[in-house]
Amino acid sequence: MRYSLPLGSRPFGPLCIMQQMEVVELEPRPTNMDNRLYGASELSDLGRRGLLSQQQTSQQQTQPTQNFNQPVGGTVAVFPDELDRILESMVIVVPCKDEQVEVVKGVIKGIPSLCAVILVSNCSHRDGENGWGAQARMLEEFCTWGREGCFVHQKYPGAAMAFAAAGVHEVVDRTTGTIRNGKGEGMYLGIAMARSYFPNRQYIGFIDADNRVPGSVTEYCKAYAGGFALVQRSSAKSGDELEDVMVRICWGSKPKHNSETGRIDFVKQGRSSRIVNTFLNKLFAVLGEDRDFITTGNAGEHAMTMDMALTMRMANGYAIEPYQYIEPLLRHSSSSTCDAVNGHKPKHIDSKKTLILQIKTANPHLHRETDDDHILKMWAAGLGAIYHYIRASKASGLDSTVIANLCDEMHEFAVQNGAINNTEELPRPRIYPSLDRADLDSFRDVLGEPCVGHDGPAGLGFYGPVDSAWPNGSDGLNSPTDQSASDHDSSYRRSSVSSEEEALSDISKSCGMRPLLA
Ligand code: GDD
Ligand code: MG
Repeated sequence: MRYSLPLGSRPFGPLCIMQQMEVVELEPRPTNMDNRLYGASELSDLGRRGLLSQQQTSQQQTQPTQNFNQPVGGTVAVFPDELDRILESMVIVVPCKDEQVEVVKGVIKGIPSLCAVILVSNCSHRDGENGWGAQARMLEEFCTWGREGCFVHQKYPGAAMAFAAAGVHEVVDRTTGTIRNGKGEGMYLGIAMARSYFPNRQYIGFIDADNRVPGSVTEYCKAYAGGFALVQRSSAKSGDELEDVMVRICWGSKPKHNSETGRIDFVKQGRSSRIVNTFLNKLFAVLGEDRDFITTGNAGEHAMTMDMALTMRMANGYAIEPYQYIEPLLRHSSSSTCDAVNGHKPKHIDSKKTLILQIKTANPHLHRETDDDHILKMWAAGLGAIYHYIRASKASGLDSTVIANLCDEMHEFAVQNGAINNTEELPRPRIYPSLDRADLDSFRDVLGEPCVGHDGPAGLGFYGPVDSAWPNGSDGLNSPTDQSASDHDSSYRRSSVSSEEEALSDISKSCGMRPLLA
């Protein structure tokens, strides 16, 4: 992957948002200008700038430093060995509902096989060619080729029991005794499954099941991996502790059929992203510049470090992605001002920074067309996630007048466009506690080991090496099997590092830093 370098970054207290990077070459050829140390120092400069005051940064932003146009032509490349090192440490969660099996299969096809896959289905029926039984069998078939995979149905009673045992009662619907409906809920289940059954994987990504272009899916996964690799390089170079990192995808375009012209229009942003991004841009404006900085407010396709996924509270349904821009501002507040959201306080109140990378892909995003009602609900959910929680952010340095005006504007927009009526409030999303507060050992104990008696069509299935990696009576995350798996990982890594990476690693050791490949 070769990316254009971001032209700047904006810090908001503990949150640093990078300006969008763009994939400029999918399979770059290494040139002698692609010194990996060089790319590292470019991004690292930005990271450091991210810690400067907002005003200093905005002044610099208006005049990008010369560094950004250096010999690599303002680009930075990440090569296959680095991508693979991250991909083999990544779980991809695919939330799905009633998509045809062929469509979901296209998505799994596109996910690099080094990644484990968790298919979280909320399909309405089990039997038939597009029921969840068929979804599970399709995943099982992929995993016979060596991929690790897990299928879980959102309504599998054991999953609700597992959350209850973990102390996370709010995600369970009391009337049905099953996990609530919603994309956010499916992703939340996916995170808990990833932590429980793929404990050595350090990154988690999400890809919607209704993507129609498998090649786009491949690019999303590689773009995630490249983003993480760049941040690793950068922190190895600068000596800064690795941050919580999130990579959010802005699609190359969103093709839409135009019924008037009969043509396909390659529009830049979807109908809901356009609105949510507009308001987030007003929120994160610097020196009055309130356009085109946030391009990923609604990014259904995004990935983060596993640590970040476990320490973040998550919003329900379609509010989950916009809320991810607000949560880092809340969870890092100082302990006295730290805000409890729906009664949940974040567990870790520390000085760890959160870095958001926005990456525009080369491929388009083609998915199921939705009707106007759906878009109205997406607007309401997305704006509600910002509206109800942004006022609580105290450590961000955001201007309280800007926030108050923004909230009024969002409400007015939703009323004027029929997303809510004028006596209503924007919907307040349900917020689920961060999973590091949950008893995930009990969660896993209730669901059981992956090798025994699990069968996708019954609601839970494990396929490929994941089921053989668990010995009977495993005592959990530090079991001998896990240890040998991680030994295997590290020997793989040792054999795949290049001399440049070794050089970086040596530099980091001599500076007393965490080794790059730790
Ligand atoms: N497991 C599970 N449970 N999956 C769900 C549920 C649920 O209750 N509801 C929806 N999904 C899955 C769908 O099957 C689909 O694969 C994916 O989540 C996205 O849902 P869509 O209904 O296709 O959403 P969208 O295309 O309108 O919106 C997408 O893009 C937006 C950005 O434009 C979503 O990813 C949004 O979250 C995103 O903001
Ligand atoms: Mg969709």
